[in-house]
Amino acid sequence: MAAAARPESLGPGAEAMAPRIAVLPGDGIGREVVPEAVAILEGLRLGLEFEFFDVDADRYLRTGVALPPEIFRRVEQADAIFLGAIGDPRVSDAAYQASVLSYLRTAFDLYANVRPARLLDESLSPLRHPRRLVDLVVLRENTEGLYAGMGTRYRPGSEREVAIVHHYNTYAGVTRILEYAFAIARREVCMVDKWNAMPESGALWHARFRAIAERYPGIRARHLMVDAAAAHLVRDPEQFDVIVTENCFGDILSDLAGELAGGIGMSPSGNFNPAGRRALFEPVHGSAPDIAGRGIANPIAAIRTGGMLLHYLGFKAEAEAVEAAVVAAIRAGERTRDLGGNLSTAEAAAAIRRHLQRGG
Ligand code: NAD
Ligand code: IPM
Ligand code: MN
Repeated sequence: MAAAARPESLGPGAEAMAPRIAVLPGDGIGREVVPEAVAILEGLRLGLEFEFFDVDADRYLRTGVALPPEIFRRVEQADAIFLGAIGDPRVSDAAYQASVLSYLRTAFDLYANVRPARLLDESLSPLRHPRRLVDLVVLRENTEGLYAGMGTRYRPGSEREVAIVHHYNTYAGVTRILEYAFAIARREVCMVDKWNAMPESGALWHARFRAIAERYPGIRARHLMVDAAAAHLVRDPEQFDVIVTENCFGDILSDLAGELAGGIGMSPSGNFNPAGRRALFEPVHGSAPDIAGRGIANPIAAIRTGGMLLHYLGFKAEAEAVEAAVVAAIRAGERTRDLGGNLSTAEAAAAIRRHLQRGG
């Protein structure tokens, strides 16, 4: 898959003999799909060590802190982090998710959120022309933009309330994500923004895009507005290789791309900083409270996220074997209900494990 074929682990990877993975299943279906993915990774007998941490809404509601300093220190020492999903209907305070997800992404400066979308089988396409391949990466800037956490509410609750969210973009932040895009591209980088409505950030992104594109004459450089990019994605997803964009647009377009490739129940992601020594892997989807606790969530996004983790750790052949086993299970009709099947989470994961043992 794209995750295996591209140098998406642009970080140094783990050189430890027995890489340690901090596992944070989180909330909702995170607790159902992550253990299945970890069981598959353990079954490969690669000497990986997994340490589970309860960083979730239960802890937050009980103690007021989701990620206490002693757990953060352990997570910080791990070679990689595997996170399920953070979000619980009992918690309406956005500070909870920010204290885990945004906190980890910013604490480790994981600016490159790589979200590959690849149609593994024609039968999964929601499009009228299912033969249209989807094999692209949404590269989401992960530390700035509309999600930088900068904003103010004035006179909250009054009829004179004003709520402001800043769209924060820096020369350094824009430069490094665009460089990452060209480094992982196979043929094209499509930079997506909305400069006609947001000219200040647009000017910075375009200036840096032109300058960096010049250094990559073999890679086509193209621009689309975010609204047009959404339309193009549905009309003809084949045209895309790497879509690079700011935080919020990348969040939205990665769900759209995931659905075009069979659904967000299948979409993996990794958060990287090539200069750092850490990476965080998480499915694109959330905790899915509407299906949580019923054992019907699709484990494929988590399993393929495990594949990206393997790739990052240097186990490239094993990552490809996991991907091949996922494809084999899908082709054999061994699917959860979001993919038109009737298997439970555990049964779908077991099917993938069997194909992995048989070699695809
Ligand atoms: P969601 O991604 O959890 O769910 C969207 C839809 O997709 C739901 O209908 C859900 O049932 C379905 N879905 C998602 N994953 C699936 C899977 N593996 N198998 C089958 N169906 C699946 O988005 P939401 O409902 O907007 O968010 C729920 C909670 O999760 C919120 O609290 C949100 O903030 C949080 N969230 C967390 C993350 C994360 O931790 N990275 C990502 C997105 C949302
Ligand atoms: C994601 C999620 C999160 C994000 C939310 C839960 C804050 O939607 O990882 O895609 O957009 O950062
Ligand atoms: Mn999202």
